[in-house]
This record gives sequence, C-alpha cells and structure tokens, in this order.
Amino acid sequence: MTAMDRIPDNSRYARCIESSKRVRWDIDEDVIRGRRFDTGHKFLPDGLSLTDGFTTLSSGERRFVSQIQGRTYANIFGLVERFINAKVLELSRDHALGDQVAVEALVRFSDEELKHQALFRRIDAMVGEVLPAGYRFDFDPDTVARAVLGKSTWAVLALTLDIELFTQAHYRQSIDPDTELSALFKDVFLYHWKEEMQHAILDELELVRHDAGLTAEERDRAVDDFIGLIAAVDGLLQAQAAADAGYFAVNCGRTVKADEVPAIEAAFLMAYRWQYIHSGARHPHFGKVLTSLITESQGQRIQAALATLH
Ligand SMILES: [Fe+2]
Ligand SMILES: [Fe+2]
Repeated sequence: MTAMDRIPDNSRYARCIESSKRVRWDIDEDVIRGRRFDTGHKFLPDGLSLTDGFTTLSSGERRFVSQIQGRTYANIFGLVERFINAKVLELSRDHALGDQVAVEALVRFSDEELKHQALFRRIDAMVGEVLPAGYRFDFDPDTVARAVLGKSTWAVLALTLDIELFTQAHYRQSIDPDTELSALFKDVFLYHWKEEMQHAILDELELVRHDAGLTAEERDRAVDDFIGLIAAVDGLLQAQAAADAGYFAVNCGRTVKADEVPAIEAAFLMAYRWQYIHSGARHPHFGKVLTSLITESQGQRIQAALATLH
C-alpha cells in the first residue's frame, strides 16, 4: 500500500484541486516565452524515438527523425485529449448534484485538457515553420473521439489512465534526462507533465468508482472493448508510421533506396508502438490498478493482444 492509497477519495479530489492551482501555467508566458524551434536540436529523446533502430541513417538524419516524431508526439496528445476531455465532462455529471469537490477537480481537468490541445496545435504549427512542407497528420480528433466514446466507459477510462501515466513516465525517464533536446520541446512536456500528474490520479478514482457499479459480464465485455481500443490505436500508429517514413524519405536530402524505405517505416512503427502501447502497458502503477480490477484470465487476454503488436 502506498501513502496515496490510505488517503480517502474525497480528500484525493481536494488534493488534485490544490495541486492544479499550484502548478497552473500559461501557454505563452510560461511555456513558449517568445521562442522558436531550432532544428539544430533533437525534439524527442532517443529513449522514445528509438533512433538506434534506424540503422541505415546518419546522426543528422536521426535528428530529423526525432523532429518528425516530436511533431507527431504533440499531435497524438492533441488527438487523444479530445476524447479524454469529452469523457471527463460526461463523468463530471455523475457528481454534479453531489460532491462539489469532485466536480471542481474534473472541471479543472477538462479546462487543462482544452489548454493542452491548444498548446499542441501551436506546437504543430511552430514545428511546421522550421521543417520542410509536406508533413501529414490526417486524423480528425472528433471522428476518432466518436469511435472511442462508442466503447464502454470502463475501457475508455482504462486507456486514459494508461495514456496519462505513460505521459509522466516519458517525461521523467526520457525527456527530462536528455541534455541534447530542444529546450522549448522539453519545456512543453515539462509543463504538460505537471498537470498530467493530477489527471492520472483522477482517472484512477473515476475508473475504480465506475468499475464498482459493473457486473462481472459488463466488465468482461469492457475488457474486450479495451483490447479493441488498443488495436485501434495500433491501426492509427501504422498509418502514421507510413506517413512519417514517406515524409522523411522525400525530405532527408538524399535519395533513399526503395529497399531502405520498409526498414525506416518499421523503425518508426517500433518507436510508436513503444511510445503509445508498450511503455504504458509496462507501467507498474497501470498494471497494479488494472490487476486489482480484472481476473487473471482477463489479464492474460490483454497480454495476448499486446504480444501481437511487435
Ligand atoms: Fe494533457
Ligand atoms: Fe491529461
């Protein structure tokens, strides 16, 4: 049991409000501060972009890969935060005529995710100013959100907890320690991390609360929904890996041989699966929360689905 487990739920919502007020930041004044991106620096760190997997590329080309992946990283967060925010607004209605502390915590969560989406749109545009034209990110956040929100709340909350925990792990384990990163890119994810800490706590509270109202059959179907969401994320990652590999090949400044392209695309996909699927699936706290809610055979079903994504 951690110290956090012993704190009653209503004071955990209150603590999230306190932390949210303490860390609150502004996109221009705190994060961007009039800066521009500099292509002399990496954006995404090696621990996330897995540049060692790009065996045929020079160090300059690997830096370009980290910049393409960094832009995609910001865009993926902007994308998922649309459905996360819609679900948070929906859950806040469960508390609306009751626990006003929980309502406030969830309203702040929602407000922060709106700000984060605005930040990530800015980052996409700012990276677009310094990298060659032709980058594509063809997913509409509302269309993706509509598909995700068609799944059970349990599955959406489990995926959301996963995302908001791996966001923090990425910052602490890979982004913060890398001394060669763009200072602006690093700050974007430092400030994002500060607010995501509260979100992950609220995701867990809401997931456990929602789970308590499910029958065993409903939970079993929700596990299938969760597996379906992971597969849908993977489909999106495959499409983006192909788009980003194609963009790299056209813009890297040399002729990329036809037989080299599949290897570059596979390296992008391996990095994206690590970033958005496996790093979260291996997150100890995510595993702990999930295991506390599901049976051993449901856990094995999830593991079997994850094992196909390599
Ligand atoms: Fe966020
Ligand atoms: Fe969040």
